[in-house]
Amino acid sequence: MRMRRQPVVAGNWKMHKLRREAQEFCQELLANLDEEPQASIILYPSFPLLTDMAAALDDPRVSLGGQDLHPADSGAHTGDVSGPQLIDAGCSWVLCGHSERRADHAESDALVGRKAEAALQHGLTPMICVGETAAQREAGQTFKVLERQLSAVFSQEFGEFTLAYEPVWAIGSGLSATPELAQEVHAFLRQRLAELVDPEQANWVSILYGGSVKPENAAALIAQPDIDGFLIGGASLDPDKFLAIIRLAAAAA
Ligand code: PGA
Repeated sequence: MRMRRQPVVAGNWKMHKLRREAQEFCQELLANLDEEPQASIILYPSFPLLTDMAAALDDPRVSLGGQDLHPADSGAHTGDVSGPQLIDAGCSWVLCGHSERRADHAESDALVGRKAEAALQHGLTPMICVGETAAQREAGQTFKVLERQLSAVFSQEFGEFTLAYEPVWAIGSGLSATPELAQEVHAFLRQRLAELVDPEQANWVSILYGGSVKPENAAALIAQPDIDGFLIGGASLDPDKFLAIIRLAAAAA
């Protein structure tokens, strides 16, 4: 029988939307969301939108997160944002190690680990992103890459977290992983978390899939036993699509 983990549906807005657009999205989302959505819903807008959105989403059904954080509490780090600043802006979650940060800002596996640790220290739940590139998959290195990314972050007695598997080749490409391929990786990730962290925690932790998720492919993905929700880029910008995916995920719970 499927283990009933609460589905998590997260929207990663990347560098999209102005304040007015964000405001309209929030109104639309709250007006159309079920009273008890049966899924944890998180939005990751860019930093300048956070405080407005915290006010607009003053609602227990939706949480806010930052797209990144610096491992230090404060200091001379131009352009960066700290855990306490995210908390102060109304966040309870933070993305760590999104592939666009790893690629555009040369974030190493070790740095992602330090960010996740800092998030936990400040009371933010890290959503840690891992995934292989097309070249790595073609070279048969998928599991080696994931292993490297995981072991740099996780150790015994790790706090509460969520993991997101986002194959880089599926992000923004329209080419989602098949449910079978994603399930194979998710099962591997859960197995490795059991070994690295704790078997009990690995059983209950949510492992999200990300990469071209849309209403058309969400049901087949969430039907897989180790896929517990989604990290959505493009489709999360449209309230109708985001709501449709939330409903599909909730229905599978
Ligand atoms: P996508 O992005 O849904 O647009 O592929 C996913 C992500 O990068 O988190």
